Amino acid sequence: MNTFPPSNLLENLPKQFFASLVKKVVQYIKAGHDVINLGQGNPDQPTPKHIVEKLKEAAEKPLNHKYSPFQGYRYLKKAAAEFYQREYGVSVDPDKEIAILFGGKAGLVELPLCLLNPGDTILVPDPGYPDYWSGVALAQAVMVTMPLREKNHFLPDYDELSQEILTNAKLMFLNYPNNPTGAAATEEFFADTVKLAKEHNLCVVHDFAYGAVGFDGQKPLSFLQTNGAKEIGIEIYTLSKTYNMAGWRVGFAVGNESVVSAIELLQDHLYVSLFGAVQEAAAEALTGPQDCVREQNRLYERRRNILIDGLRSIGWDVTAPKGSFFAWLKVPNGFTSEEFANLLLEQAHIMVAPGIGFGSFGEGYVRVGLLADEERLKEAVRRISSLEIFKK
Ligand SMILES: Cc1ncc(COP(=O)(O)O)c(C=O)c1O
Repeated sequence: MNTFPPSNLLENLPKQFFASLVKKVVQYIKAGHDVINLGQGNPDQPTPKHIVEKLKEAAEKPLNHKYSPFQGYRYLKKAAAEFYQREYGVSVDPDKEIAILFGGKAGLVELPLCLLNPGDTILVPDPGYPDYWSGVALAQAVMVTMPLREKNHFLPDYDELSQEILTNAKLMFLNYPNNPTGAAATEEFFADTVKLAKEHNLCVVHDFAYGAVGFDGQKPLSFLQTNGAKEIGIEIYTLSKTYNMAGWRVGFAVGNESVVSAIELLQDHLYVSLFGAVQEAAAEALTGPQDCVREQNRLYERRRNILIDGLRSIGWDVTAPKGSFFAWLKVPNGFTSEEFANLLLEQAHIMVAPGIGFGSFGEGYVRVGLLADEERLKEAVRRISSLEIFKK
């Protein structure tokens, strides 16, 4: 059997940091331990029934067994436009300002390929969602990181970017509610972002994956609600988290017309659009009843409160997330994020994600997913409280 070496492009892709952690957890489970997995970002609730029913019905239609139109069905783009109008009061043209995606990740990886030439600069948050790095590597672009610090509420400080970097940068990624920090954006921050982007001819990509998860009565802001945002940017929305459709692979890019057409051009070469039945069910999700989304938000908020109140009660000084389904917890003194994640796995059989896996400014934190039910979260707190370092 011949072995064919991968291309340089593949060799230069970033290493998957979390793969080794997942392997270790699997070993623990195989050894018979009851592991509470709070380390990953896979929604634990099912897709709402009315959406699944629509998929079943649509799967029966012969039309959906054919190739879909290359850029997707217009009714889905129209549904996405209605969703933006209803949820955020933002008007978008379904024909020019929306591109259908195979999930948010596809769009985020495609965008650097659409807009950057090798050697061009892109600004990326640190800590941040590791898949951003994949598109940067594929485009052979130069990544400049923007530190997200707790003292700045995990918003980047644009004053830290040199004139040279701002002159060279063509693209910027942002993500609020934020994975991994659970931080939320403010109107003022988004307005500053638009101003900066206009001054430096930057394209802003706002990843709004957790748009449906905001706590304490604060609905997360869409970047497109900011005056002038559409002129300089695009928002990536996904149905994965809002409607628990992570396995379905459906999302959309919305905003700047030139960016939408660049995405559609690349996708015309890479794929034909999504299965028609998935598109029908996605349109149903966006325009059908939304109580499921509100109910789910309340569920994550209850879980957040159980985890945060529980950890505070055992003397761990933790900050509550404002949105997303992650809590970003400062590790106790004397541990690196990896050491502390290992300790939790080995001694409490709890899996969390070490912050360093999200970038160097993630060091000193672990990310805990609110993706287990209330009893399991209480059990996690109990197990943590019995660790030597938390014994008073
Ligand atoms: C910040 C962020 N962006 C994008 C995604 C991608 O979601 P999907 O590709 O399922 O739409 C995720 C998924 O975990 C995420 O956490």
